[in-house]
Amino acid sequence: MTAGRPSPGSKARAPVPRLILGIETSCDETAAAVVEGGRRVLSSAIASQIEDHRPFGGVVPEIAGRKHLDNLVPVVESALERAGVAPAELGAVAVTSSPGLMGALLVGTSFGKALAMGWGLPLIEVNHLHAHALAIFLGRARPRFPYLALVVSGGHTTLFRADSPLALAILGQTRDDAAGEVLDKVAKFLGLGYPGGPAIDALGACGDPGAVRFPRGLARSASLDFSFSGLKTAVVNRALGTRRIDGRLNDQQPPPLSESELRDLVASFQEAVVDSLVGTTLRAAREHRLSTVVVSGGVAANTRLREKMAGEGRAAGLRVLFPDRGLCTDNAAMIAGAAWHLARGGRFAGLDLRPSARMKTAAC
Ligand code: KG4
Ligand code: ZN
Repeated sequence: MTAGRPSPGSKARAPVPRLILGIETSCDETAAAVVEGGRRVLSSAIASQIEDHRPFGGVVPEIAGRKHLDNLVPVVESALERAGVAPAELGAVAVTSSPGLMGALLVGTSFGKALAMGWGLPLIEVNHLHAHALAIFLGRARPRFPYLALVVSGGHTTLFRADSPLALAILGQTRDDAAGEVLDKVAKFLGLGYPGGPAIDALGACGDPGAVRFPRGLARSASLDFSFSGLKTAVVNRALGTRRIDGRLNDQQPPPLSESELRDLVASFQEAVVDSLVGTTLRAAREHRLSTVVVSGGVAANTRLREKMAGEGRAAGLRVLFPDRGLCTDNAAMIAGAAWHLARGGRFAGLDLRPSARMKTAAC
């Protein structure tokens, strides 16, 4: 073991590591990255599993776990090589420990533990959603705390009040489907392929967002929660017209719509998702007197969401910030970046670290 370092996986306070290797395997991307000082991304390698899951129209948990097992060694090697960093130069290994697919998390955390043990490095466990909310620090923007963070992804739609990198409190979240999940499900139903978010983004830009007025979830409710399942049903019913669903939504044939009907339907659907997200987020900022809003997670790559949140936020006197698109969708740079903040706060994990499929309630 290198002198001056804590024993591998020890929870004892260690010096703040300059170079951290991050590992992300919570869903269907196997990712590894090296980040310096919590800000500078030296490398970010991602092995996408999209082609493996495409035939099923969604992520198959067992396939995800097996693919992580295949991909982790080459992805970590590639991250170190691209960064020009040898294992001996690293200061810590960081892994996503929650929330996510259990099999996928088990593969990533076990691998991270083995590396920490083998290389004599401290281990840091990172919450995937907190990492999304802190990914903004990997860019040029330097948001001041406290800020409001909307994390909007395939699995979550959550508003956090971020008082510090170690203190993120949930203000609201979806009561049913996540925004990305509803984009993916509707895209699949319309025959737009997998993953649906980017397809909706592209097609929605060509249609009329005012063609159909869809419901805006809980926009009028006093809570800061979201709801998207009613919108999903409304879009499906609209697409089917007088036809009725025959069996499960997933088993439907794409509805017979003309090109322009499809474009308008998609644009109107996207607009309803975006309005729900923008409306509740700006209300949360007002109610909690927060002047900076950070929007991240895969759906934060959406063109219309970026445009509308920025425009309406500016009009309300807010500073609205987005990570670069590549740092919105799943990546390991955000894991290594968040880990640096945790290390500064003395938060190291032991080799007894256990992943959790659900959101752990303790801060970070
Ligand atoms: O954060 P992420 O990569 O993985 C999770 O943590 O879930 O988010 C994935 C989600 C998927 O639902 C995907 O369709 C959506 O982000 N997404 C988008 C766009 N790019 C990815 N949604 C809308 N517009 C996009 N450009
Ligand atoms: Zn994510």
